[in-house]
Amino acid sequence: MHIVNTIADFRQYQSRKLAAPSSLAFVPTMGALHEGHLNLVRQARELAQQVVVSIFVNPTQFGPVEDYELYPRPLSQDVALLDREGVDLLFLPSVPELYPPGFRTYVTVEEMSERLCGHFRPGHFRGVATVVLKLLHIVQPDLAFFGQKDAQQCIIIRRMVEDLNLNVRIVIAPTVREPDGLAMSSRNRYLSGEERRAATVLFQSLQEAQREVTSGERDAERILQQVRERVAREPLARLQYAEIVSSQDLSEVRKVEGEALLLLAVFVGSTRLIDNTILQVERP
Ligand code: PAF
Repeated sequence: MHIVNTIADFRQYQSRKLAAPSSLAFVPTMGALHEGHLNLVRQARELAQQVVVSIFVNPTQFGPVEDYELYPRPLSQDVALLDREGVDLLFLPSVPELYPPGFRTYVTVEEMSERLCGHFRPGHFRGVATVVLKLLHIVQPDLAFFGQKDAQQCIIIRRMVEDLNLNVRIVIAPTVREPDGLAMSSRNRYLSGEERRAATVLFQSLQEAQREVTSGERDAERILQQVRERVAREPLARLQYAEIVSSQDLSEVRKVEGEALLLLAVFVGSTRLIDNTILQVERP
């Protein structure tokens, strides 16, 4: 695996690649890799000849009181994992290169970025859209991979790619879960033993909601009320939001018809976890 630290070195690698054209898949990450990321890498390897992964803890997507400084950065472990997965190139840009002094240009996907997680994390999706656009611009992949666990992020990125006519196919891979259903996340490592047990409340609430839809419930507010009650029964958990929206554009859904996206953000102790499921009226 090649490792490059600057845009210039990346471009040099890429010009060599263009001399022998092959399809290129890109997996942007913030590191602290887990099975969810490795699953994206494996799918990327199946669909393309070259796989580039980036690790960049993006400061502009963290709020002033969030965990940017504390965010886990186990770089040598991540490098070993990616090497083992047969990644061709790991891109590790620096903050001053991606955000040079005087940086003033941001990308905002309007409305969608202010809802749900965006409401509680102002500026978060502006930071995500900006860095993803920059990385896509530098890497120029044919395919880029994101995880369904960050459903709002996926929908916003798809919108940006369409709005800005970017020549890249966005591939969304299913959420990878622990055996008890907890969605894999780099932030799960913040949980204490008791909190880790309590964190299964997210998956359980999602499953209960799907069961209600399967047994005929269509009213979004009634489904959400059950979710709120389920989370409230877990003493270590505090619901930040639960919403049912369109899986296409995040607009509000009152009646579940066909499919709809149920999203949750829950504090377990002081760790904020998110999860989601696509509620389906008829399960395949
Ligand atoms: O999902 C993430 O890890 C990040 O939001 C991303 C897409 C790498 C942008 O920093």
